[in-house]
Amino acid sequence: MKLYLKIWRQKDANSKGKMVDYTMEGIEGDMSFLEMLDVLNEDLITKGEEPIEFDHDCREGICGTCSLQINGRPHGPDTRITVCQLHMRRFNDGDTIVIEPFRARAFPVIKDLIIDRNAFERIQQAGGYVSVNTSGNTVDANAIPIEKEMADKSFNAATCIGCGACVAACKNASAMLFTSAKVSQFALLPQGRVEASDRVRSMVRQMDLEGFGNCTNTGACEVECPKGISLENIARMNREYLSATAKG
Ligand code: SF4
Ligand code: FES
Repeated sequence: MKLYLKIWRQKDANSKGKMVDYTMEGIEGDMSFLEMLDVLNEDLITKGEEPIEFDHDCREGICGTCSLQINGRPHGPDTRITVCQLHMRRFNDGDTIVIEPFRARAFPVIKDLIIDRNAFERIQQAGGYVSVNTSGNTVDANAIPIEKEMADKSFNAATCIGCGACVAACKNASAMLFTSAKVSQFALLPQGRVEASDRVRSMVRQMDLEGFGNCTNTGACEVECPKGISLENIARMNREYLSATAKG
C-alpha cells in the first residue's frame, strides 16, 4: 500500500506544532499501526531526520499509553480496540491518514504525539484505592461473599486502562467516564464502601481541579472507549457524589 500521512509534529511543550506530510510505500496489511510508524521512524533516522515521538508500551491493549487521534477518532476507525491493536489492513492503498495527539487542555502535548496524562494519575491518587492494613492481619478476599452481578460490574469498571480516549472523544473534554470507572470499581464492592464518600468527593474535586470539562451526556466517550466502559458508571458516580455531599 502507498499511504499519505499527515502527522502532528511539535518540538516541545512550549513550541507551536504543525502537521507534516509523509508518504509511505510498501505498507503491508498485516503490519500494526505502530509498526507502520516504526518503519517511518527508521526511514527518518536513516535520512538523519528526527523520528516522530509516540507513546507505547505493552502493544497488546493493556497499558493505555498508545493513544492517538487517527482521522479524527481516538484509537482510529475500529471500535473496542487501542491503537496498538489496529492493523493497516483497515486502510486502503492511496489513503490519507491524519495522526494527531489527543486534544484536551488537561492533556498538554509534551512532544509530537505524546501527551502528559498525569492529570489521570492525580485523580487516581486522590482516592482510587482501598486502605488495607497489610501487616499480617489481611482478611482473605474470598471471606466476603459478593453477588456475581456486582463482581462482574466492578470487574468491567476496573478494565479501564486510563488511555484518555473518553476525554479526546468528548466535545467538552470531560473525564467523567474515566473517573466514574475508577469510582465504580470500588463502590460496587463491600470492601470499597468504607471509604466511598471520601473517595468520590476527592476524586471529583481533583477531576475539576485538573481542568476537564463538564459532562453533557453526549455519550461519545462510551462509543470510543476501547474497553467498552459503560455510561452507567457516570450515573453511579453522580448518585455516589450526591449522596456523599448530602451527608456533608
Ligand atoms: S474509560 Fe475507556 S476511554 Fe476512558 S480512560 Fe478508561 S479505557 Fe480509556
Ligand atoms: S501500547 Fe499498551 S495499550 Fe497500546
